[in-house]
Amino acid sequence: MGAFVLLLFFFCVFDNPVGSLDNGLSLTPTMGWLHWERFMCNIDCDSDPHNCISENLYMQMANVMVTEGWKEAGYEYICIDDCWSSHQRDAQGLLQADPKRFPSGIKKLADYVHSKGLMLGIYADLGTETCGGFPGSLGYYDIDAQTFADWGVDLLKFDGCYMKWNLLGEGYTNMSIALNKTGRSIVYSCEWPLYEWPYHQPDYHALRKVCNHWRNSVDVEDSWASVKNILEWTADHQNIIVPVAGPGGWNDPDMLVIGNFGLSHDQQESQMALWAIMASPLLMSNDLRDICPRAKELLQNRHIISISQDPLGKQGYRTAKVNNFEVWERPLTGGQLALAVMNKYEAGGPRHFPLTLATLPSWKICTPECNVTQILPSYKELGVHTLFSQLVVAINPSGTALLSITPMKVE
Ligand SMILES: *[C@@H]1O[C@H](CO)[C@@H](O)[C@H](O)[C@H]1NC(C)=O
Ligand SMILES: *[C@@H]1O[C@H](CO)[C@@H](O)[C@H](O)[C@H]1NC(C)=O
Ligand SMILES: *[C@@H]1O[C@H](CO)[C@@H](O)[C@H](O)[C@H]1NC(C)=O
Repeated sequence: MGAFVLLLFFFCVFDNPVGSLDNGLSLTPTMGWLHWERFMCNIDCDSDPHNCISENLYMQMANVMVTEGWKEAGYEYICIDDCWSSHQRDAQGLLQADPKRFPSGIKKLADYVHSKGLMLGIYADLGTETCGGFPGSLGYYDIDAQTFADWGVDLLKFDGCYMKWNLLGEGYTNMSIALNKTGRSIVYSCEWPLYEWPYHQPDYHALRKVCNHWRNSVDVEDSWASVKNILEWTADHQNIIVPVAGPGGWNDPDMLVIGNFGLSHDQQESQMALWAIMASPLLMSNDLRDICPRAKELLQNRHIISISQDPLGKQGYRTAKVNNFEVWERPLTGGQLALAVMNKYEAGGPRHFPLTLATLPSWKICTPECNVTQILPSYKELGVHTLFSQLVVAINPSGTALLSITPMKVE
């Protein structure tokens, strides 16, 4: 094995960001379920009634969210993505759900979801059409915001297809104002930076005033390549995007694809750990009616969720690339630190990563002592350590060790 090369990233930790969207929502990253990655634009209810985009799908997910412990774990929003609507607005110019697939209408669906103690999310688009070719909201922001409020919707994912890029800021801002004017509390999930980056560096301070979370990079797919690509994009842009995240406004690296087909269990652990470190919304896109027990246990892991939902609301960042490991950390309340070490070497067996000052400058929080708990790959209380302890963690290929480190004062 080559020399142990330590590549440190210097990262400025700013004070709490100010000026978030003042709607009192998403004070910790939003948790729930969103249909897109798993169910996409499947509108063929004749041949695939169990998986098509229809009111049944969301009602079934809502049922399972309650009976299978998801709600109790903190997952709250059931979110509809594209392809729910009819191809035409109604005679009054209002959006309407596809009558065949949503015979009871969205208001009834929202009532149903609320009766389960959950929230309903919906999807619309800033431009002339949605990405899937359904009616867009350009020219209808006030009307559509009011329609969603009247239906009892609790979250809007607002996409940016078919819109001039130089009007993104204006459009996203106008919709934010329109939602506020309805008087209903609606989480506002934007895709403004995703569509602006190809032309221009987005103004993240403006974004934070307008949106509760914002998608930065391409859609997640059900593959390790996709998850790695999103992590790489995030780390490459962390000096720009991390300082603006905080209560009320979050960077959104897209859905959790845990429980589907493309990720090994170790890779699923890596996604879960890193999404918690990145203070990302935890929006699962999977089939909760049919999910393997290990994926379920991982998604409901209360230790990981408590890192994700840490009230300090600071987003974590990559601190080092060492010998085919990546080290990420996130400051938590009470001076605690969450630490994720990912094994990027995709061959062989478990590799060992020593926690020392040389590999991990933040290990200095172990002066004079710290209490270390391993959360992934398995829960283990590793006890009290000092700066000079010889602590080593074993990490499978494309897996991640997630730890929490609590500094201890000596009496
Ligand atoms: C609308 O904005 C005002 C001022 O920013 C805020 O106080 C109020 O809570 C917002 N209302 C909703 C429903 O978001
Ligand atoms: C945003 O609202 C302003 C003020 O009403 C209006 O002039 C502008 O055309 C709107 N822009 C978009 C993209 O909706
Ligand atoms: C270390 O943390 C673990 C997990 O929270 C806890 O059970 C244990 O009591 C702590 N040990 C000390 C010495 O504080």
